[in-house]
Amino acid sequence: MAKDFSQMEDSNRSSNPSIHTLLQDPARRTVLVGLGALAGLGLAGCAGTPTAVASRALGFKAVAASSGDRVVVPEGYVTQVLAPWGDPVGIAGAMPAFKPDASNSAAEQAVQMGMHHDGLQYYPLDGSRRGLLAINQEYTDDGLLHPDGQKTWTPEKVKKAQAAHGISVIEIEQQAGGWQVVRPSRFARRITANTPCAIGGPAAGHTLMKTAADPAGRTVLGTLANCASGQTPWGTYLSGEENWANYFTAADVPTAHERRWGIRKATWYRWPEHDERFDTVRHPNEPNRFGWVVEVDPMDPLSTPVKRTALGRAAHEGAWVALTQDGRAVVYSGEDAVFEYIYRFVSRDKVAPAGNGKTAAQANAELLDHGTLYVARFDAGGQGRWLPLVQGTGPLTAANGFADQGEVLIKARQAADLLGATRMDRPEWVAIDQATRWVYCTLTNNTDRGEAGKPGVDPANPRENNSMGHIIRWREAGDFSGDGFEWNHLLLAGDPANARPEERGNIRGDAFSSPDTVAFDTRGVLWIGTDISTRKIGKGEMARLGNNQLLACNPDTGEVRRFLVGPVGCELTGATWTPDGRTLFVNIQHPGEAPSERSDPADPRRYSNWPDFNPIGRPRSATVAVRRVDGGVIGA
Ligand code: FEO
Ligand code: CA
Ligand code: CA
Repeated sequence: MAKDFSQMEDSNRSSNPSIHTLLQDPARRTVLVGLGALAGLGLAGCAGTPTAVASRALGFKAVAASSGDRVVVPEGYVTQVLAPWGDPVGIAGAMPAFKPDASNSAAEQAVQMGMHHDGLQYYPLDGSRRGLLAINQEYTDDGLLHPDGQKTWTPEKVKKAQAAHGISVIEIEQQAGGWQVVRPSRFARRITANTPCAIGGPAAGHTLMKTAADPAGRTVLGTLANCASGQTPWGTYLSGEENWANYFTAADVPTAHERRWGIRKATWYRWPEHDERFDTVRHPNEPNRFGWVVEVDPMDPLSTPVKRTALGRAAHEGAWVALTQDGRAVVYSGEDAVFEYIYRFVSRDKVAPAGNGKTAAQANAELLDHGTLYVARFDAGGQGRWLPLVQGTGPLTAANGFADQGEVLIKARQAADLLGATRMDRPEWVAIDQATRWVYCTLTNNTDRGEAGKPGVDPANPRENNSMGHIIRWREAGDFSGDGFEWNHLLLAGDPANARPEERGNIRGDAFSSPDTVAFDTRGVLWIGTDISTRKIGKGEMARLGNNQLLACNPDTGEVRRFLVGPVGCELTGATWTPDGRTLFVNIQHPGEAPSERSDPADPRRYSNWPDFNPIGRPRSATVAVRRVDGGVIGA
């Protein structure tokens, strides 16, 4: 979701120190390590997690910046639109067609693709020929979702909006004409804002998780604001609940806990008007049940999604898994809000192989419920430390408001404040190079950096008024579970033609701003999707950058090349590949978004009519499959 920078959450009032020194990039060092953990377990690497360092050379001709209402790809490449918002996911006996005037009911929406595609991952059923796509549907534009937008506001509209959130699982296969959605499919599934989800980990059953509807504090209705995604080596899907605070309304004066999490009176989505559980005056613990990483087994359509509280509560962008040499899972997760943090979880147990009648997903059903959560402190000199969020350690005591580990996890932000973690420029996606142990994280932008009363620059976040964003990377000392790490910047984004020198950046190649998605393909090329906010696209210092886009980066050389440009008003989200690297799937989110971020229902095609160009239709988020005409590996 593109955030309106003037209104976005800014809840971190901690006094964690900022070091007013500018970055000195340490010399890059790349060290190859073995992949014994993966091989020893007989587990596949996650799609998009390089398992060997082959040539990462970029072999395509860059495309120019574009402001057209279309998808632009290099010569020799073709694209295909798959599964736009409103298409049936393929549940047998429940496949209502999309109505281009947005008159589908809430019940129909609940079996159709949700509204704004974000994270996505490919799961092979038959290698690169047939598989599943799990896709997050992050949020709704009520101006497009209903024929008359929010002009009237009814329980049915709230139900439809809730049905358009969550996660979709679809089956796809390659046929002579390209990729097709398989309908019906026994795997087809929708998880919405009302699907029962279990609570796992130390906060399950905690007093702060109990509500009138769930006195046990162990089952939540739904998942919300599902932003980025990761894939585990045991075959499950991790989805981050990001901007969930926007769905709640509070009293005139929110509590201190609510304020720290950005919950305030009034809500952009207007759900509390017809669903009282989103009113924190009546249900003060309901928000504590959101802000988690949700794990889903896409291969089992009857499985219950689980919110993994051991990974901490946050405005989670997503979650990404590495393996230690001895086979424990390490999960990285950033929190996309200005001046928030980067977290790491290290599992207590080793990843178990499939066997004894259990799939790998079933064998690891509780793996992410036990372990240690840390938050990152980036120090000067290219060094950093992981600070444990463990009750009773350091300041995390009952006297300071942390009665037990559950409370530490539910109040992870407050705990990280006390520990002195580094306040970052909006951490978005993480990409892990399992082979070299470098971990990359996009810091999309933060124009508040350096403002009066706000934190100034620090070594990791080196620019005031950071409108362009940067990509940081770190390498753990010894193993992914090390206590410390070295770090540097892959790049500072920007346009060399900008008037303001600090926003020119240092990209070796094509200019871009606001990196968001970042993911490795099977060759170890790093792909970067951008999310310049719609009210800034094509204006001022973004004027030469065109629509949001997907770029490829060779991390060995730092070379960046523009690969794909999206239609008007979209952001590029998610990137996943078939195992052979010959199809790239990427999401076009919110094409045609209005600068206000809510469309005018009387003029739904004002900015874009992609992908249908139906004269009575409306723009629809969709997945795009990209292939080479000659059938070769994408980007090579
Ligand atoms: Fe949903 Fe931080 O992007
Ligand atoms: Ca994002
Ligand atoms: Ca973003």
